[in-house]
Parts: sequence; C-alpha cells; structure tokens
Amino acid sequence: MTNIDIKNITEDEAKKQLKHLAEEMAKADIAYYQKDDPYLTDSQYDELKILNERLEAKFPHLIRTDSPSKKVGAAAQSKFGKVSHKVPMLSFGNIFDVDEIDSFVSSIKKFLNISTDVSIMAEPKIDGLGFSARYENGIFVQGATRGDGTTGEDITANLKTISDLPPKIENAPSVLEVRGEVYMNKNDFLELNQRYENEGKKIFANPRNAAAGSLRQLDPKITKERKLKLFVYTWGDVSDITWKTQEEFLEKAKNWGFPTTKGHYRLCHTPDDMKDNYKHMLEIRADIDFDIDGIVYKVNDLALQNRLGYLTRTPRWGIAHKFPAEQAITKVNDIRVQVGRTGALTPVADLEAVNVGGVIVTHATLHNEDEIKRKGIRIHDTVIIQRAGDVIPQVVEVLKEKRPTDSQEFIFPERCPVCGSHAIREEDEAVRRCTGGLTCPAQATERLIHFVSRDGFDIEGLGDKIIEDFYHNGIIKSPADIFSLEKRNGGFTIDLFSNEEGLHIERKEGWGKKSVENLFNSINEHRNMELPRFIYSLGIRQVGIATARLIAKNYISFNNFMNDMINQETTKLLEIDGIGPAMAYDITEFFKEEHNIKTIHDLFQEIKVQDFIDNTNYDSPISNKTVVFTGTLEKMTRNEAKAKALSLGAKVAGSVSKNTDYVVVGSDAGSKAKKAQELGVNILTEDEFLELIKG
Ligand code: IVH
Repeated sequence: MTNIDIKNITEDEAKKQLKHLAEEMAKADIAYYQKDDPYLTDSQYDELKILNERLEAKFPHLIRTDSPSKKVGAAAQSKFGKVSHKVPMLSFGNIFDVDEIDSFVSSIKKFLNISTDVSIMAEPKIDGLGFSARYENGIFVQGATRGDGTTGEDITANLKTISDLPPKIENAPSVLEVRGEVYMNKNDFLELNQRYENEGKKIFANPRNAAAGSLRQLDPKITKERKLKLFVYTWGDVSDITWKTQEEFLEKAKNWGFPTTKGHYRLCHTPDDMKDNYKHMLEIRADIDFDIDGIVYKVNDLALQNRLGYLTRTPRWGIAHKFPAEQAITKVNDIRVQVGRTGALTPVADLEAVNVGGVIVTHATLHNEDEIKRKGIRIHDTVIIQRAGDVIPQVVEVLKEKRPTDSQEFIFPERCPVCGSHAIREEDEAVRRCTGGLTCPAQATERLIHFVSRDGFDIEGLGDKIIEDFYHNGIIKSPADIFSLEKRNGGFTIDLFSNEEGLHIERKEGWGKKSVENLFNSINEHRNMELPRFIYSLGIRQVGIATARLIAKNYISFNNFMNDMINQETTKLLEIDGIGPAMAYDITEFFKEEHNIKTIHDLFQEIKVQDFIDNTNYDSPISNKTVVFTGTLEKMTRNEAKAKALSLGAKVAGSVSKNTDYVVVGSDAGSKAKKAQELGVNILTEDEFLELIKG
C-alpha cells in the first residue's frame, strides 16, 4: 500500500485506490468498533488514513461520499447523534462560604417544617464532564453527554472505550441510567500534555479540558488512547427505584461495578459535620489524584428530596459548595521580561516550584511595570500565588513580613531584552513596547505562534517550540512559508524522502517520515480558511476572535475589508458596534505597514479565504443584548462563551456599563461583578446563562 507513488499517480488509478481504501477502512472500523476485534494495528490503520488523505488532497473532486476522511476529525459536536434525556440532567445552585451551609440546612428544615436534624450526603464535586449511561436488561446500550440538560450528544462508542464502565451489570432494574462524571487523573493529564508537547501538539489547559476534548472525539480510538476514568454519583431514567437514600444508591452503584467516590464521601448529620468535612476535603484536595472543585450536598433521604422538589432550574434538595481558587505560598527567584507578538513587554516571575492543587507552578504573570509597583513585588520576596481554572497563575500579594534583607527592586528595562531596540511606553498605556517590529525575533515568532493557534489556522504539529526552531533555522520566517514547506521539502511521495538537496525536515532531530507527513497533512487541511479566523490570525493589536468575527460579518469578504483599510477608509469600521476609535486606529496602523501587506499578498499565493456566511441566530433570547463575561467559567472557555454569544446575535463587551444587559460571572469574578451590582445590571451564573440561551 505504501509503495504508491502519489506524485505520479494517474487519476484513474487514484479513483480505484480511493474506492479500495473506503472499503478496507469501513471493514476495519466494523472490526474495531462493533466486533471489538481489530485486525489492523493502529499504525497500519493510520497509514491507510494518511494515504487516503494524500490522494484526496491531490484529487479533491474524487472525494467519495463514503470517504473515511469524513468519519473523523473536525466539527465533532454537530456530527454526534442527539440523545434526549428522559429525565433532565440538571445542576445545583452554588454556595461559596462555609457560613452558607447553615442557611442551606435551615431553609430545608423550614420548607419541610421540621426541627430535627436532616442527614446530608456530602460528596466531592468532580471537575470533569457529566455523562449518562443507559443499561437495558443489564447491558450498556447508550451513552450521552449532558448537553443542554435536555438533549445531549450520543457518545456510546466513546464511553465503551473507558474501562471503568462495565459493559454488563447484574441484579439491576431492567432500565437503569447511571450518571456521573468522566475525568482524567492528574498524572495521566501531565503525561498526556508532556507527550503532546514533545510531539509539537497543542497541550490542554487542565484535566477537565483534556477529559472533555477526549470524550468528544468523533474517533473513539482517540478517546481510548487518552486514559479516561469515571465516577457514578446519581441516576436518571430507572424502571424501578429500589433504594431509599443517596447513600444506598452509592452502595448499589458500587456493587453493580461502577466506581464511586467511596472513601471521600461522608454522610453528615449536622451543619458542623458538613463544615468539618468541607475543611478536611479542602486540606486533602491537592493530594487526591483527580481534580475536585468543591463539595456537593444532597439530602440523603429520597422521600424528603421528593417533598423538597425543584426551584425553577435547580433542586431544592441539594447544593454545590465551591472551593476557592487554589493558592500557595512560594518565593520569587527572579523577574524576567517576555516580548509578545505586538511587542508588549510582559514581566514574569520565576518562582520556586510549588504544588498548587496538584499542578506544579514555576512562574506567574506580573502583567506590567505598574502592577509590580502596586503590589510591591521584589526579587526574593515570598508571595501568595493563585491558580484559577486555566488562567495563568497570578501573584495575589507579597508577604512583606517575610522579605529577606537581600531582596531587590526590579528595574523595568527601557530596551527590548530580545533585540535591543528601544522599548517605549506611550502616554496612557500601561504597557511598554519594543519598537523593533518584525526585525525582533521575539515578535516574529510570537506572530507565527499566534497565526497557527487554535482560534487562528489551528495547525496541529506546529507547537511553540517547533515554530521557534523553524524560525531560528530559517525554515519559516513568515506565515506563507508554512504553506510552501511541503514544496520546499523536495517533493513528496508516501515513502520517498530521497532528495539529496534542499530542506529535509524528516532528518531533523525529533522528526520522522510519519510526523512530517502528518504536519503537511494538517497544513494542507487549512488552505481554505474561514474569514473570521483569517482576520484573527493576522495578529492585529486588540483584534481577538470576537472582534474578527464582527469585522467579517460587516465586510463579508477580506478584499472589501482590506481595500477600505488600505485607503484609510474607516467610516464603515467605526459604525460597527463594538469597535471604537482606539481599535480602528490599531487596525489601520496594521495595514499601513508594508511588510503586513506583503505577508497577506504572499499568503494569497498559497491559500484561499472564504467569504463570511452569517449563521447567527437572531431569534435567540440574547439577540441584540450586550453581554460581559467575567471570572473563570467552568463549562467552557471565555473564548467559547464569547463565540457562542455572538452566534446568538449578542454583542460581547469587555467592560460593564449601564448599557450592559447581562454580566455572566464565573468563579473569582472581581470588579466587573461588583460594578454590575452597583449599576443594577442583570448578573447571571454560568449555569443561568446556559439555561437562558437554551431558549
Ligand atoms: S449530582 C441536580 N454529584 O457538578 C444535579 N453532581 O451542579 C445532580 N458534579 O453539573 C448532579 N460531582 O456534572 C452530582 N458528586 C456529584 C458531582 C456532581 C460533580 C457536577 C455535575 C453537575 C454539577 C453540579
């Protein structure tokens, strides 16, 4: 199979090969997924997949409707089948303070009109991805994600690959849906990221993201490779509920063969028990090998749960007690300055390595020179640092009483530490910037890294380290060079790298035939780019993916946009709600630079950019509303949330004003939440926001 010479293959021969591959891989899929009896090794399978992709790239008009390339890869979510939950998958309301335990318990007693103690089951709140698994007559028949609570995605094949989930259970009701959380162990997460980093792939921000990303793979083989685990903690549709308490359910679940958090859950009889348990769990949180982000409290007795029932969206019989952001005390060994893609100089603290909730932290951002002054941070100081979700750790405060006599003030440099050009701080700006432009290697590499990042061209196999290496070796100097890489690599057939001259990436350390093929494939998959991602990838100052989308929506084609910008025609740009004069200034400045125009021109020799297709839902409950996101969100990244809001016709703003309609607050939300309160703006939790947009 691998002897096929792609370079010289005829169209007729390619057609035959594509048919053969479609049949062969369909057979292999049935053997693997349905019969659990694969006859190809993973690498043999991958070889067929690559060959298929290469042939399709060469002859796009020969792509078959049953092509194996259509079964895996992009646009995962929408390709999953839908599952409607017979019993909705809800979530709990949140409390943050220990004192709120008393009010939770007393409101329950008041509602039930009883004065005796109510037993509460306190379980760790697993930071993973909710799932539901349906068993009929003891056989696992269907798996689903939570989705919007009413409809989830069909992940049956993926759940099957998780060895924690028994395929068969005994002595269970004829219909039994168990529910719980899929997660990734801290160690497995670190290993996965290490491996991905070595392979030049993008790494995951935290175990929860890694678990979610792995579970929602269209190709269950990838799910299997990623070592997922799960816990069961509740149930959905059940033909005959034979348990009377939550504790009894957890026991039964364990006996059926499901993992539970036994050993970490505790039946509490008084609020004091609950407080003790909370403190204990907070103490051992970092030592447990999976991430927990709080405790959930559930009234143990189901009869009482039934009497308590539900508020509009959440049960009255339970609540989630969230842990605060994880903090630790450590020392600042040094302060250094990094240079970003727009030349911004960002100070970073090198820390004495410290374990923050199971993740080793070695540095923290110090934002800018004023922030260092404001917090009074000196080299050798002892500081409290904080990690929240996937946010880069921050220094919360300096422990001045621990300041050693040899502490040193940090003098912010006035020259770029990478290229030596002047670093200038404009009036009203907090940031000092290098004036070296693309002659500064730091700016050039950061721009390339931005270009291939997730919201941009999203090219697998071009991680930060590889970009830096390729840049310093003159292999990739500008974005267009990425797309000419394959040509410059001296032609390509599936097994031929025999050119004696020119570039030979496969001979570089850490590279091989396979990884080079994979890299070229992922580059070729991105030769036809969507307009918002393209605009974002250019790396214009202040233009994030949300702004790029606004521009795309208003200009429809890149040419329209670029023509106006080159002519310094900003009327239309300034009419866009969400783009102010400062942003318009940065955008037009970008197009004034000759080298930026050349970069775009060179790119267009290699790629195409699609015109914008507007699939915004203007009938949604947040259409035309202004939404601000603040704090760390749990179920999606900030970018995902913004993209979702925009696709529902909302405007997304960065700061709260009287024109804001909704402020969506995540954990550790700061001044924006406070401002919203003062202005009387609607404040929503993440769950309430998700509920609202459900319609
Ligand atoms: S019980 C009505 N138990 O945290 C909610 N949920 O708001 C029934 N979670 O989205 C869920 N650990 O995905 C329950 N031991 C646990 C949990 C747990 C994590 C998640 C769940 C839900 C959210 C609670």
